[in-house]
Amino acid sequence: MQINVQQGSIQAVKADTIIVNLFDDVSTPGGATGAVNQALGGAIADLIASGDLTGKAGEVGVFYPRGAIPATRVLIVGLGQRNEFDLEGVRKAAAAGIKRARELNGRHVATIVHGAGIAGLDAAAAAQATAEGSLLALYEYDAPKQREEEPHEIASLMIVEFDEGKLAAIQNGVDTAVAIAKGVNLARDLVNLPPNVATPTKLAETARQIGKEHHMKVKIGGRKWAARHNMGAFLAVAKGAGEKPKFIVLEHNGDRADLPTIVLVGKGITFDTGGISIKPSANMGAMKSDMGGAAAVLGAMKTVGALNLPLRVIGIVPATENMPDADAYRPADVITASNGKTIEIISTDAEGRMVLADGLVYAGRYQPNAVIDLATLTGSCIIALGKDMAAGLFSTEDSLRDRLTSAGQATHERVWPLPLWDDYKEAIKSDVADMKNSGGRFGGVATSAIFLKQFTDYPWAHLDIAGMALTEKENAYIPAGGTGYGVRLLVEMLRHW
Ligand code: BES
Ligand code: MN
Ligand code: ZN
Repeated sequence: MQINVQQGSIQAVKADTIIVNLFDDVSTPGGATGAVNQALGGAIADLIASGDLTGKAGEVGVFYPRGAIPATRVLIVGLGQRNEFDLEGVRKAAAAGIKRARELNGRHVATIVHGAGIAGLDAAAAAQATAEGSLLALYEYDAPKQREEEPHEIASLMIVEFDEGKLAAIQNGVDTAVAIAKGVNLARDLVNLPPNVATPTKLAETARQIGKEHHMKVKIGGRKWAARHNMGAFLAVAKGAGEKPKFIVLEHNGDRADLPTIVLVGKGITFDTGGISIKPSANMGAMKSDMGGAAAVLGAMKTVGALNLPLRVIGIVPATENMPDADAYRPADVITASNGKTIEIISTDAEGRMVLADGLVYAGRYQPNAVIDLATLTGSCIIALGKDMAAGLFSTEDSLRDRLTSAGQATHERVWPLPLWDDYKEAIKSDVADMKNSGGRFGGVATSAIFLKQFTDYPWAHLDIAGMALTEKENAYIPAGGTGYGVRLLVEMLRHW
């Protein structure tokens, strides 16, 4: 779908479908919706008076003007309560409108910027949210199967603004949204692809592609390279893998040590069987999403490149499958990570922290101002915070935690703080190594975080996104499947760094 910004009156534009909006307390609409109402001889006010149109959040009224204006149909999306309205409301309203337009086979759609008028939101932010909500809601995974009919695609979305003074800001917001949606939808694709396709090699190829598009340096290390770097923890997980492991590094402004340096590390387990500590077979397929952290990092790097952010941003993805095999690592093995620390294997299913250990050590070579890792790390995090609710956030630095929390509020990719107390170290004490790779059932989300901390010596935050990467149910602008969680959060934090 093409997206463009135009000055004009929404009731006058040449589009088959126009989208306006309504708060739930309005009887006679003002602003752009008011202009459409007038052009239709008060038809929208009549719909409100009859009770057929209420303006409640999620509602989409459809009206056919039959020649009174150029458009074939008018969609009126409900914005809900005025005092609760925010950018998330904008994204949801845009999603509801554009999805209905697609259902009705709209081809050339025009919309106003939700929230930029009477709601008084910042014009650029409201335009970004309108475009983002639309682009993210229309995402569909292109599954390799035969269809009865080709899915209908909207050809163009015109963002229409009457106030000339707001146009530049709106164009800016829309450009940002386009760059962000590309990153999010890439991350969704990577999670949605089956694990025999979204292999470590595929993640490496994706990184190369991003590097080519945005002039980033790309390094891909295989088994030998990882061995030269003493990455015993990463290689232990990779030992039983049939697919070749890849240690992926993407550098945006890599040689600009003068810029603030932020390193993003993503868990890239392309399929997690549990290994020798094998998982139950029921629903094991969901573990194709165990590279959700990697997908978020690659998606964020794509957007960082498109926006050409004035920062030094490094993306690191240790990628491998976790398989049971004659060669697989086993419980009771003792492994040495690249910082020399030794790890007693309790469960081969605690593989994420193993690959991240070497990823985090490698991050240190950039002398980073901050390192953020994202990982579908523990079922325990889902027990603590729930499914599709928030990522668990651990940080060694209050300021970094605050940056992520603000970004989470702005994007509605929420994070919630959890403790990184040293007392948790007790649970991973080992008699035969520096630490165990599992601290048992109690506080599993926190003991995994304290494990990771042993491989960091810089300002660091860990996001456990186990409950966030894959969703069963469609929600507003997030279709069922890979969510792309983390891309918008990271980009929002970086844009305001
Ligand atoms: N990838 C899983 C965690 C997970 C579970 C992600 C459910 C998404 C949904 C991870 O590798 C794992 O198996 N964790 C174990 C750790 C345990 C063995 C210490 C867990 O959470 O049970
Ligand atoms: Mn596991
Ligand atoms: Zn895992």
